Amino acid sequence: MPKRSQLKTDPLLTGFILLLAGLASFLHFNADKAPVPASPPAQQAPGHLVFEHSFFDFGTVMEGDIIKHTFKFKNDGAGKVKIAKTETSCGCTTASGALKEYAPGESGEMEVVIDTKGKKGIIVKTVTLTLENSDPVTLDLSMSMKLEPPPHPKIEKMRNINTEAACKSCHLESGEGQSGVFLFHRVCSQCHGKKGTGGFARAMNNGVWQKATSDAKIKQIVHDGLPEQGMPSFVTGVTPPLSGEQVESLVKYIRSLPPQ
Ligand code: HEC
Ligand code: HEC
Repeated sequence: MPKRSQLKTDPLLTGFILLLAGLASFLHFNADKAPVPASPPAQQAPGHLVFEHSFFDFGTVMEGDIIKHTFKFKNDGAGKVKIAKTETSCGCTTASGALKEYAPGESGEMEVVIDTKGKKGIIVKTVTLTLENSDPVTLDLSMSMKLEPPPHPKIEKMRNINTEAACKSCHLESGEGQSGVFLFHRVCSQCHGKKGTGGFARAMNNGVWQKATSDAKIKQIVHDGLPEQGMPSFVTGVTPPLSGEQVESLVKYIRSLPPQ
């Protein structure tokens, strides 16, 4: 794109652009005056879609579930009405089965599917219909739900939370961007206990262990793991790996644990 200052210094080019702009608005003006259809649709009696309900509450839904609801409706107007477009409030919601024309008295159904993956708390999703030959011309249908986390899987023995698909999304992946105590709770406390007090693996709030173990050793073990003993690696062969800064923040947190 040429800069404004360059245009000013080139009167020929400026003239040409003005000419083009003029031509474009001339064409546009004439397009507006296109011949009017013989029987304008406005004279047709409008249709009127009546829905059994325009709001639906799913109640409590488990986070990650894919849920469906069918909206039923009928054209109660004197003329045909067309559902020309459905727009949803988020990519997680799809509406299908309704895009067509409905004769007076004709019924229809629209299925809405919502993928709750990654959603939390109380949420509302909306589908907006654009109607042709109707009064009104748009309609909003809403659905609400309260998302609750799924019950935690029962853990009887130590399992690798970094590589097992059933654990990774909530443990390793939810630690992305976290550091210190928050990161420790996502990725270390499952085995080393909340506040490092021990569980499947050793306690870290132990004065003797703290003195005997250097920062470099902790970093190296977090980096490579102790595969024979069941301590997973958090960097080598793991996606996403913990960053150097994250590992540093864990060492700092471990050092801050009050020794017993
Ligand atoms: C839906 C998310 C989710 C999934 C899936 C998940 N966890 Fe967890 N897990 C959590 C949360 C949240 C906590 C609590 C963390 C805290 O207390 O800081 C937790 C805590 C734990 C604890 C500590 C339990 C306790 O009583 O302190 C262990 C052990 C654990 N998870 C292991 C696993 C393993 C192994 C898997 C895979 C089989 C897994 N988790 C899958 C979310 C999940
Ligand atoms: C899946 C279980 C598990 C998870 C999760 C886990 N560890 Fe471990 N960790 C172990 C086991 C098992 C050992 C070796 C046996 C022991 O020390 O109890 C170990 C040992 C260690 C050691 C060496 C202890 C020593 O003996 O000197 C360090 C340091 C350590 N873990 C740090 C961490 C940190 C930091 C995290 C979080 C990033 C973490 N671990 C997450 C299971 C786990």
